[in-house]
Amino acid sequence: MSIRVFVPSDTTAASVGADKVAEKIAQEASQRGIDVQIVRNGSRGMFWLEPLVEVAAERGRVAYGPVRSADVSGLFDADFLSGGDHALNLGLTAEIPYLKNQERLTFARVGLIDPLSIEEYEAFGGGAGLRKAIALEPNQIISAVKESGLRGRGGAAFPTGIKWQTVLDTTADQKYIVCNADEGDSGTFADRMLMEGDPYCLIEGMIIAGLAVGATQGYIYLRSEYPRCWTTLNQAIDRARVAGWLGENVLGSGRRFELEVRLGAGAYICGEETALLESLEGKRGEVRAKPPLPAISGLFGKPTVVNNVITLASVPIVLSCGAAFYHDYGLGRSRGTLTIQLAGNIKRAGLIEKAFGLTLRELLFDYGGGSASGRPIRAVQAGGPLGAYVPAKDFDMPLDYEAFMNRGAMVGHGGIVAFDDTVNMLKMARFAMEFCAEESCGKCTPCRIGSVRGVEVIDRIQAGTAREENLELLEELCDTMQYGSLCAMGGMTPFPVMSALRHFPEDFGLDQND
Ligand SMILES: Cc1cc2nc3c(=O)[nH]c(=O)nc-3n(C[C@H](O)[C@H](O)[C@H](O)COP(=O)(O)O)c2cc1C
Ligand code: SF4
Repeated sequence: MSIRVFVPSDTTAASVGADKVAEKIAQEASQRGIDVQIVRNGSRGMFWLEPLVEVAAERGRVAYGPVRSADVSGLFDADFLSGGDHALNLGLTAEIPYLKNQERLTFARVGLIDPLSIEEYEAFGGGAGLRKAIALEPNQIISAVKESGLRGRGGAAFPTGIKWQTVLDTTADQKYIVCNADEGDSGTFADRMLMEGDPYCLIEGMIIAGLAVGATQGYIYLRSEYPRCWTTLNQAIDRARVAGWLGENVLGSGRRFELEVRLGAGAYICGEETALLESLEGKRGEVRAKPPLPAISGLFGKPTVVNNVITLASVPIVLSCGAAFYHDYGLGRSRGTLTIQLAGNIKRAGLIEKAFGLTLRELLFDYGGGSASGRPIRAVQAGGPLGAYVPAKDFDMPLDYEAFMNRGAMVGHGGIVAFDDTVNMLKMARFAMEFCAEESCGKCTPCRIGSVRGVEVIDRIQAGTAREENLELLEELCDTMQYGSLCAMGGMTPFPVMSALRHFPEDFGLDQND
């Protein structure tokens, strides 16, 4: 019997040499006459250990990492195929504390299975949610999603069941499910990891959404910088069609659902749902005024569910294990698990799926191991480029939508970017304005013009020119952008700017007590 060796095909692992390692293992095994089966799995999300090679040994899966192709011959000599001792031996993968202490619901299969094998997907619990959904009425599916407490993981945390109900209740000859896989936030990669590591989970979630609202066509709007993901998704969709999951008769239910992937236009604003729909329709990604909501008039003017990858990929487990099971995780109105992406100046960057409620401090130090530079962590930016900077004194704040909101911050897509004490927060505030100027769709004045003026005002503050007046002007400008912009791009750029000023006044030439 051949020995199974797992080498991630995930983009992050590939970027540090996983493909070469896989090739070298195949070559070495053939030279030594050993029968190995190399499985290109998803990443376990422990990026500092990539390429993380795992061997299916008798006592369980044993991990080795980070493995370079130059290490491969030595690994064979150390009998790694039986889990042998070696400097890179990390023990049983499931026992590595970073992974062991997680609560993986959405990511339950990522890294465990061959992403493209439907058989393995089903063997590890996949498909059970869809089979349950097929036996339910649309309203029953939506009730389960509502009762689970699932809220959108794309940024705004809107209750998913309520969005679906609006689409179900809107009569139309055609409805759509659109998956937002544009993943533009800084330091985020959960969508990509899920799509590369367990694509059928997203496909299943989208089919369930289609059954729930009466949509027969789905589109995945994929970030253009994700070429591996594009290939994986297309292969998975082809196989799902052959297996009867997609097409005229979903798993023999007599219901239709088709799915296609579309490549994004490469602009941050194309992640905003209405700009995304414009882009999907082949137009320039410009924000639409709301109302009407996409749930009523979305793609090609038809009722459309727009949901993030993780939102949709969380639906199968809600259906298969029940709303109450999912709802039992988390706290307050933040139910279920959050897929946190730890990035920036951090020792152990990666993906952590945990029930809501974990504190930033636990995340940064217990999981992240502190800064990569070894210096104190001064601030984190949570929730992408429009998210506020959270100072170290607030690191005991739990990851919970409301707790963050109450302090002017946001959880968003769960991206946490760490900065050590060498960061200059005035420069970060300037960057936020510059980013907005660069990425603004240009439709409304507060954002298009305000962001350019914002850069100029911050430059004057930095130069010490009429500092008091310019600080006042910056506050007024942020106020205008926040309340006068058409969408959250211009509306939230003031969050990083003002949080930098509020928490780190010394970087703006002010006394801490000013
Ligand atoms: C400027 C901007 C960029 C956004 N980018 C993304 C993105 O890359 N991915 C995403 O899922 N949502 C993004 N959103 C949020 C979407 O507009 C929308 O709320 C989300 O796709 C809805 O899905 P959900 O309910 O599952 O969160 C963005 C919003 C704004 C304002
Ligand atoms: S806030 Fe910016 S991105 Fe949003 S509609 Fe206005 S110009 Fe476009």
